[in-house]
Amino acid sequence: MAARILVMVGGISKNSLNEKLYGAIQNAHGKDFTFEDYDIKSLPFFSQDLEADPPSIVTDFRKLIRSSEGVLIITPEYNRSFPAVIKNALDWGSRPYGQSVWNHKPAGVIGASVGAIGTFGAQHHLRQVLAYLNMPTLGQPEMYINAGKSFDPKGKLVDTPLQDHLAQYMKTFGQWVSQHRQPSTNA
Ligand SMILES: Cc1cc2nc3c(=O)[nH]c(=O)nc-3n(C[C@H](O)[C@H](O)[C@H](O)COP(=O)(O)O)c2cc1C
Repeated sequence: MAARILVMVGGISKNSLNEKLYGAIQNAHGKDFTFEDYDIKSLPFFSQDLEADPPSIVTDFRKLIRSSEGVLIITPEYNRSFPAVIKNALDWGSRPYGQSVWNHKPAGVIGASVGAIGTFGAQHHLRQVLAYLNMPTLGQPEMYINAGKSFDPKGKLVDTPLQDHLAQYMKTFGQWVSQHRQPSTNA
């Protein structure tokens, strides 16, 4: 059965490059996975005042994480780091202390920006957080995408080498999730 993958896209603007990248992944690999995309910008800002009795939107988000077999994070680069909406979502899943729903969840990180290093800085800050959250994160292949010219005006991916690299990435990510998924955490 196709693995259930929670997808979090950190680009929340109308013309987000990273949403286009996710669109390309859905088009090419939608049959190989069951993607559960979650609109992380709809979550409230994390506050410790709310963590013991969080709003239902947070409870539902935590349930979705639990029922997912893997997590794919598609991140832009903001000032050489990842955007706050991603950190906010990770923080909600991690609390209360000792009740993190990220524990052991296999993850993949990719990202697109207009800069030459193609989200290298963002991805490596993010990897530091995922390591603390005890999420086994695919190391190779890496995908640092300088995507300024990779999409046509309709948002279609027109960069063939990038399509090939993405296919290789998704194949390896699927194997990674199969190796690391934790059936017991899906209750
Ligand atoms: C606050 C901010 C900081 C940015 N910092 C970086 C950066 O450090 N490196 C980079 O390559 N691009 C940077 N950019 C440009 C983004 O790569 C570009 O806006 C990209 O389209 C963002 O991804 P998105 O379209 O999915 O939102 C920054 C953009 C913003 C708004």
